[in-house]
Amino acid sequence: MTPIRLNKFLSECGAASRRKSDELILQGRVSVNGKVVVELGRKIDPAKDSILLDGEIIKPEKKVYFLLNKPKGYVTTTEDEKGRKTVVSLIKSNAKIFPVGRLDYNTTGALVITNDGDFANKLIHPRNKFQRVYLALLDKPLEFGHKEKLLKGVFLEGKKSKFIRVEFPKRKDFKNVRVFTTEGKYHFVKRMFGLFKYNVKRLHRESIGFLSVADLPVGSYRKLTMQEVKKVLKTN
Ligand code: URA
Repeated sequence: MTPIRLNKFLSECGAASRRKSDELILQGRVSVNGKVVVELGRKIDPAKDSILLDGEIIKPEKKVYFLLNKPKGYVTTTEDEKGRKTVVSLIKSNAKIFPVGRLDYNTTGALVITNDGDFANKLIHPRNKFQRVYLALLDKPLEFGHKEKLLKGVFLEGKKSKFIRVEFPKRKDFKNVRVFTTEGKYHFVKRMFGLFKYNVKRLHRESIGFLSVADLPVGSYRKLTMQEVKKVLKTN
């Protein structure tokens, strides 16, 4: 097998993200063939070398990929210090899975859960411009002028941001709004509407990229197909 960097190996095994893996290495918690390694950038051969983290053997895990229609009342982290329910608890898997990106506690909709860090990075990296489609219920009808501004571009924390498209799915109902964006920033939709003093009462992500939850009831999930996985992995 071709040698790979130790931090890449650790993250591929689901031990931690690559950055966290570097920290584990610097903390002297990782050993290769019985010797503690503290230098970053060390390469190992997964087929020959024996890697231990805190004295426990680390082995590559089979990659798993799920699309969940997230219900309300779940956090999109693997653990929660306040003891709230996590999205990973909804998935039957023994792998070290984590959610790809964030959805707010009460936001519902499309969320990918996997143990593949490379896949996750590709899906959320701004360069790959995977489109997110959200259905938002606002506290008051969206004014035409505000819609135009959100489409033209506004400044959010000093950075120009915009919705690619805005639709009203129900006739003559300007509180229910569908927005299209490639931005994955924290609270993006709520903050965009917040600029014009709209409160988002309900938020649902209909899709991320080509992965839609239109056929998945809220709270249920399915495995991604090999074609879907490949399609994401072949992006840059
Ligand atoms: N934008 C938000 O404001 N919240 C989400 O959960 C997702 C996008």
